[in-house]
Amino acid sequence: MWWKENIVYQIYPRSFLDTSETEFPDDGIGDIPGIISRLDKLKSLGVGIIWLSPVYKSPDADNGYDISDYYSISPKFGTMADMEKLFAEAKKRDMRIIMDLVINHTSDEHEWFVKSRDPKSPYSDYYIWHPGKTSKRGRRLPPNNWTGFFMGETWEYDEKRGEYYLHLFDKKQPDLNYKNPKVIEEVKNILKFWLDKGASGFRCDVINIIYKTSLTDGKRSLAVQGLEHFKSQEGNHEVLRELRRDVFDKYDCFTVGETVFVDLEDARLLSNENRKELNMLFFFDHLEVDRRIAQFIPKKFRARKLLEVITKWQQGLDWNAMYLENHDQPRIVSHFGAAERDRALDGKPGELWQRSAKMLGLFQLTLRGTPYIYQGQEIGMTNFDFKSLDELNDVVSHSLNKLMKKLCIPKFLRWKWIKASSRDNSRTPVQWDNSENAGFTKGKPWLGINRNYKFINYASQENDPNSILNFYKKMITLRKHSMCLIYGEFLPVYADDRLIIYQRKLGEELYTIALNFSSRTVKAPKKFNELFRGTQVVSASGKKLEGTNSVCTYGVCTLLPWDGVLVRSN
Ligand code: NOJ
Repeated sequence: MWWKENIVYQIYPRSFLDTSETEFPDDGIGDIPGIISRLDKLKSLGVGIIWLSPVYKSPDADNGYDISDYYSISPKFGTMADMEKLFAEAKKRDMRIIMDLVINHTSDEHEWFVKSRDPKSPYSDYYIWHPGKTSKRGRRLPPNNWTGFFMGETWEYDEKRGEYYLHLFDKKQPDLNYKNPKVIEEVKNILKFWLDKGASGFRCDVINIIYKTSLTDGKRSLAVQGLEHFKSQEGNHEVLRELRRDVFDKYDCFTVGETVFVDLEDARLLSNENRKELNMLFFFDHLEVDRRIAQFIPKKFRARKLLEVITKWQQGLDWNAMYLENHDQPRIVSHFGAAERDRALDGKPGELWQRSAKMLGLFQLTLRGTPYIYQGQEIGMTNFDFKSLDELNDVVSHSLNKLMKKLCIPKFLRWKWIKASSRDNSRTPVQWDNSENAGFTKGKPWLGINRNYKFINYASQENDPNSILNFYKKMITLRKHSMCLIYGEFLPVYADDRLIIYQRKLGEELYTIALNFSSRTVKAPKKFNELFRGTQVVSASGKKLEGTNSVCTYGVCTLLPWDGVLVRSN
């Protein structure tokens, strides 16, 4: 199956590459011609599918996740002709494109919403409107106690209509009403439009919360309050099945759902092939093993916990979407890797930055499921080194700061938590070379460039055989040629606070993977030595396992700090 055997690469267009070839030349915002010009590089990395974060027309209250016209391209990114060219150029290289489908909400500037503000308009039921409640003293109150994903209110009063509308995200992102069949028909038309243009599928934004069963108060919760009324509801499953039956099944395409607060049980329902809803989905558990209350408050990382969570998903679902980074998450080498500890004062990353980035690549590319690599991950880009909150663009970081201030949380903690969780950590522009602005733009970049671009950039890694980039290339080639690494069973073997060991097995083919998530040298318990008897295929440090000379005769596994090894036994 092509969407199981390929590597997906996520492009966040505004941070990818800016050119002079759009209506707004060198405006510091990446664009579609920029993407086209780098297709050959992606091809040589081994990418077969590109997931494009939203490029549609949008006022950008949430960087394109607030769409004001699903049928046109934002002039910042280019034109429809540019988009058609991107489909054609990708096809020439045997690459496919999937689009971002944001249908829980639109922008408040979308024509449907503007018209919906008039209760007599045919669009009046496209969104979730409610008159609200009245307090004993006659004050107007919102319809319920729900809290949103962006830490603010979820109901906004509209003077024109004289009613509240629901927005689980920003107030500029009103939620659509999936109890209205006309909305579903609109979505089908959008899907067909892009599939006919050449899209090969969709990444479906927050797709497990689109259907609101009731608008009654939610149970008290520190996270999102009201979830039980809109997370993975039966109505949601029905919408997904309808879209699959009436649209997706008629095309050679796939869907990957972004599913918030998803547990294994929900995930099974949403992605079980027989139920015909989604083809696969993104869960968050593995990236939250060192976080409390969703992703905000850090806690100690333990490798054991990571293996436990990964095993649950690897064995619990038939097929996974495996990612370590995206535009909402911190950079993985700063999160689970050594980038933050291994850095000189001038920002120059150390050897452990490089080794841990490779170890994490080895981890991701030896898991069962379609791998999703986020732009810049393949060169070990690190978290944004912002020095003040003014440098941040992310709406969530700003509202989190506001909320924490209200709760009287001291400044140093606010800073620490925002540093760890800001979505801008992964949104800084791609570091292409060591020229001004990292070769990203000739103008002023929309978001700061990480100051370490002179040390971490694409050009310097292309010709370095020991680079992270070349390690990814090697691992991708290996994976693409091994049915075992793609489809093999996942078998957990051992874990402690620093080390994890697991295997992949298909027929006679067997791989053993050991990863050290610490700055100490670690040794696997002796009883597992047997497992390392075989041919060492690859290691993050480039060093051979103790006692090995390409063939692991003694079968001993001692790992250097942040090293990872892959041994083939058969
Ligand atoms: C998830 C997207 O990944 C995120 O960037 C966006 O802010 C929300 N959904 C709302 O669309």
